[in-house]
Amino acid sequence: MNMRVLALFALMGIATSGFAAAPGKAQQIAEGEKLYKYWCATCHGPGIGQNGAPYLPGETALRAKYKGAVPGLLHERTDLTPEFVKLFVRQGISVMPFFRKTEIDDQQLDAIAAYLTRNSKK
Ligand code: HEC
Repeated sequence: MNMRVLALFALMGIATSGFAAAPGKAQQIAEGEKLYKYWCATCHGPGIGQNGAPYLPGETALRAKYKGAVPGLLHERTDLTPEFVKLFVRQGISVMPFFRKTEIDDQQLDAIAAYLTRNSKK
């Protein structure tokens, strides 16, 4: 067996291990979506706000902040990173409360971040 064939097998090994990890990732994203809908969509989901406001508070604030440069809905963004999501969730900002580990533990936060960054280009 020459080196090129060996290298090919090595690459195939890397590729298959990547595929093997995929179901776990898909599961994490699905879990994150559920948690996001429970904890975050009350402000960041699509919908109308109180007193006739056209959007919920999260979308309203992010539309104003980015002026259309990125979508107002977090789950439509493609520029988010896990670190960015986790920072805001643990610290809060303006009317967004911070979330304690007793509410959203680290593993759950990883799942929410995986969901929100599933379409991020890196
Ligand atoms: C009570 C309403 C509310 C809830 C609940 C809420 N947020 Fe927010 N969030 C906001 C508002 C409002 C902003 C924008 C604040 C500003 O910049 O003025 C924001 C900002 C953010 C940002 C920063 C986005 C950016 O580009 O600046 C992230 C990330 C975020 N929220 C994630 C989440 C996640 C994840 C959850 C659920 C765990 C969540 N938020 C729950 C209201 C909320």
